[in-house]
Amino acid sequence: MITDVIKIFRELDSKDLRILQGIEVGMKHYEWVPVEELMKITRLPYSSLVYKMKALIRNNMVIGTNQPYEGYQIYFDAYDALALNTFVKRGTISAIGDEIGVGKESVVLEAVKEPELGFGEPQGVIIKFHREGRTSFKRVKRVRCHLEDKEHFSWIYAARLAAKREAEIMRKLYPDISVPRLIDNNRHALVMEVAEGSLLCKTRLEEPQWFLDEIIRQVGIVYEKGYIHSDLSEYNIFVIEGGVQFIDWPQCVEISHLHADELLERDVSNVLKHFKRKYNIKMDLSEVISHIKDGQES
Ligand SMILES: Nc1ncnc2c1ncn2[C@@H]1O[C@H](COP(=O)(O)OP(=O)(O)OP(=O)(O)O)[C@@H](O)[C@H]1O
Ligand SMILES: [Mg+2]
Repeated sequence: MITDVIKIFRELDSKDLRILQGIEVGMKHYEWVPVEELMKITRLPYSSLVYKMKALIRNNMVIGTNQPYEGYQIYFDAYDALALNTFVKRGTISAIGDEIGVGKESVVLEAVKEPELGFGEPQGVIIKFHREGRTSFKRVKRVRCHLEDKEHFSWIYAARLAAKREAEIMRKLYPDISVPRLIDNNRHALVMEVAEGSLLCKTRLEEPQWFLDEIIRQVGIVYEKGYIHSDLSEYNIFVIEGGVQFIDWPQCVEISHLHADELLERDVSNVLKHFKRKYNIKMDLSEVISHIKDGQES
């Protein structure tokens, strides 16, 4: 649980963090980082390493084995703590709040960021921790293809790559496309601004046609920039009076992608289905798609 991570994170001292970072580094080469290697990386003597390790294992930050040698590995809880530590050190966040969403492939928290240069009010922000290696075996398998012999730590890679991809896309699209502004990215985690309004799936709109047109217009601008969201639906669109915001970008593809047409169709079809079901608005899928693509040519 992320709430446990936050509680434990507050209690970690610099030696604990050094050990977690040491295991993270060691896992580039080992599934289980040998204790001798860890002593070298952390420059801690065996006795103090083992002493510290007991609490880390008790708190689910580290997993240990004695077979076929004494070795250690970390999992998501520790990786979360390392990313949080980096964000706090960089001044990206100053306090951590409640969990607001557990998706299939992420955990999302509220947090607070102090104002830049010390002026103004603290700002509420969002931390999204990617979890790709945990549940999506398909995706992990895909990542594994590129890693060959590095299969053992593919969850770190899968989650980190997804976060990196999402961060890159958000940076590229902001502010032309209505997406939350990205504030920071480290390891498998992103810090971004809070999307305003509420999720489309949880809202009853008074002027649904205006919002549908606006969503299609935004999909068109994304397309014009050369991208397709590829996971667009009422669950990844925020609506507020006068605007919409798209979130959840790690699976975004370029329009040159082999399945670009299919993915664009699926995105638009998800949106049209929602507006038909909830508001009885009917629009023709192929007409909307041509409209989006025409915008590209004009
Ligand atoms: N910038 C944001 N502002 C406000 N809420 C957000 C923001 N980003 C994410 N959330 C919340 O966290 C939830 C999960 O985020 P997101 O959709 O990015 O991840 P996900 O793991 O792909 O989720 P799912 O698999 O359920 O689609 C969202 O549905 C939303 O409620
Ligand atoms: Mg989502």
